[in-house]
Amino acid sequence: MMSRDQNRLITQTGNGTPAGALLRRYWQPAALSVELEGPRPVRPVKLLGDDFVLFRDEQGRLGLIDRDCPHRGADMAYGRLENGGLRCLFHGWLFDVDGKCLETPAEPEKSRLCDRITLRSYPVCERSGIIFAYLGEGEPPALPALDCFAAPDSHVFAFKGLMECNWLQALEVGIDPAHASFLHRFFEDADPNDNYGRQFRAESADSDIPMTAVLRDFPRPEIEVEKSEIGLRITALREIDARRTHVRVTNLLFPQAFVIPMSSEMTITQWHVPVDDVSCYWYAIFTSFTDPVDKPEMRRQRLELYTLPDYRPRVGRGNQYGYDVAEQRDQTFTGMGLDINVHDQWAVESQGRIQDRTREHLGTTDKAIVAYRKMLLGEIRKAEEGKPVFLELTAEQAAAITGPATIDGIGTTGEWEAYWRSADARRRENAPWLASTLSEAAPAQ
Ligand code: FES
Ligand SMILES: [Fe+2]
Repeated sequence: MMSRDQNRLITQTGNGTPAGALLRRYWQPAALSVELEGPRPVRPVKLLGDDFVLFRDEQGRLGLIDRDCPHRGADMAYGRLENGGLRCLFHGWLFDVDGKCLETPAEPEKSRLCDRITLRSYPVCERSGIIFAYLGEGEPPALPALDCFAAPDSHVFAFKGLMECNWLQALEVGIDPAHASFLHRFFEDADPNDNYGRQFRAESADSDIPMTAVLRDFPRPEIEVEKSEIGLRITALREIDARRTHVRVTNLLFPQAFVIPMSSEMTITQWHVPVDDVSCYWYAIFTSFTDPVDKPEMRRQRLELYTLPDYRPRVGRGNQYGYDVAEQRDQTFTGMGLDINVHDQWAVESQGRIQDRTREHLGTTDKAIVAYRKMLLGEIRKAEEGKPVFLELTAEQAAAITGPATIDGIGTTGEWEAYWRSADARRRENAPWLASTLSEAAPAQ
């Protein structure tokens, strides 16, 4: 249970808040690259409670600037993209991607006003289909050489979705290995080759037990949490019998992402980014370790579930998450369909716009959540004291951080670590574009 002040401290991210100051020291996903495609590559972006405009100029350079024009505050998101920048519609002031004022065309010919004006701009970088922004002071840290960034463009696909709740509860569902046995329970096991978003498609080469049956029949995982070089490593073991154990190793990437296995061929790296304190986007990079990804098809599948331009789920708060009484009785634990993303959406949104953590009662299965909050509070404190914070990397440090090794499958009981390592090694053999992470992976304690 937390105090009201602590809950506020870890959930509020607006400018000037302690957690906001911490998050502003890391790159934040601001948009998908595809959102800047089309005839006019200009988009308003709301991030951590502040409003910005993201645009690509005529030379293809990316810029992220404050949304209000420094003249008299008109909305730059409607600006004209021309003459090397974005021009405000009100009086024609023109700004480039760095926020430099290029023209104030209504001012007298000899006016020097332009030289004194700047629009605040922020560093941006584009990686694996996501445009990241750095909203902090000074130089941004380097991004670690994780699989999702190391993979070539042909092997990554990015997507996002809106969640109408605070970013922290969206993140916390991903570091809670116990919920899958309940929230995502299916009373019958489907064809494991089913499409995206259906049931689990984890690796179970050594076993013919469907993953849905493992989760359903073994609801008490043994959870271990250790500090890793990117945050936390979370291991959940479900012992099936003396011979076989289900092993799921996931990773928290500090401060806002997790790296989880999707199948033996693919991992998901997913950030949870505050739009403001009562809504957030998840941004995911799907990384393939085998064949190139079919981006148009992956996007088409997901757009059946999300609406543009806001990437709002079609099944959600507005239609009771598709809740169906008969389905809940006969087919699924939730009665909310077969797409596990809908279940997660319900879980986190149902906790309230900002979960009141003064009323919660944590159990043993919440180990990773406890460890993460502790880490978050510690780093917030360091940021407040002006100290370096975790994973604020130099280019050299960033290059050395690869992986992480993440797995979901059935190994030999008592030998989960050997299974985890060999399964990850096997995956990497299929992906010669990746360096082996095994030498860097810290041995489990
Ligand atoms: S308000 Fe933008 S140019 Fe005047
Ligand atoms: Fe889930």
